[in-house]
Amino acid sequence: MPKPTREMKIVVSKDGSYQVSGHVPLSMQIIEPNEQGLSWDWKEAKSFKADETYDLCRCGNSKNKPFCDGSHLKAKFDGTETATRRPYVRQAEVFDGSTLLLSDAEELCAFARFCDPGGKIWGLMDQTDDPEVRKLVIREANHCPAGRLVLHDKKTGEEIEHKLPPSIGVVEDPAMGCSGPLWVRGGIRIESANGTPYEARNRVTLCRCGASVNKPFCNGSHASIRFRDGLVEFVRLKKSE
Ligand code: SF4
Ligand code: FES
Repeated sequence: MPKPTREMKIVVSKDGSYQVSGHVPLSMQIIEPNEQGLSWDWKEAKSFKADETYDLCRCGNSKNKPFCDGSHLKAKFDGTETATRRPYVRQAEVFDGSTLLLSDAEELCAFARFCDPGGKIWGLMDQTDDPEVRKLVIREANHCPAGRLVLHDKKTGEEIEHKLPPSIGVVEDPAMGCSGPLWVRGGIRIESANGTPYEARNRVTLCRCGASVNKPFCNGSHASIRFRDGLVEFVRLKKSE
């Protein structure tokens, strides 16, 4: 799996955009539900032209989403970074399962709901000596875009992490009738407006609706405000609305 190049970087600008550099690939990533309507897979729907540098909207107001058009100035966007700089392991609680350990940093949840099929992932941990359940749990944790959930094998202590190619996904959630965060994959560096780096991780989600209280990370608020970027025709999966 390719690693991020030295040039690949995302800078969180003060009360402004995400400044992306290093030709980072950018595509639309759609959350696909299973037959029960629960989040099951990712579908890449479209690629955007990824120049050497580009600016992505962070306030939710751009008329040219996912790119920034300067609307944060008119909106007087308060993009204050409130997220902790503690590394993931110091944020996470650990759940002990029969063959796996599940680390969980709840604050990072992007409400993508991949942890739901088959029963919530936490409730499945005690059944991971069943190979089918273990497979499902590994799938669910690795589909979690936010990196809230991380697994370790209990016997070997090894992290079970499917390495992702360095890239950014513009998340769409048709089942929820909203657009989601920016899914930053493959360990791309993210730097605060004051120059300090966040921990580089395989999976993180950055807020692009402007409403997260854990900026720059997504905390699922896009679902409660029904943030829409207008990039896809939303399929109504729920009858009532
Ligand atoms: S972001 Fe991760 S933890 Fe949150 S609902 Fe989705 S899969 Fe579950
Ligand atoms: S995009 Fe998820 S909280 Fe803003």
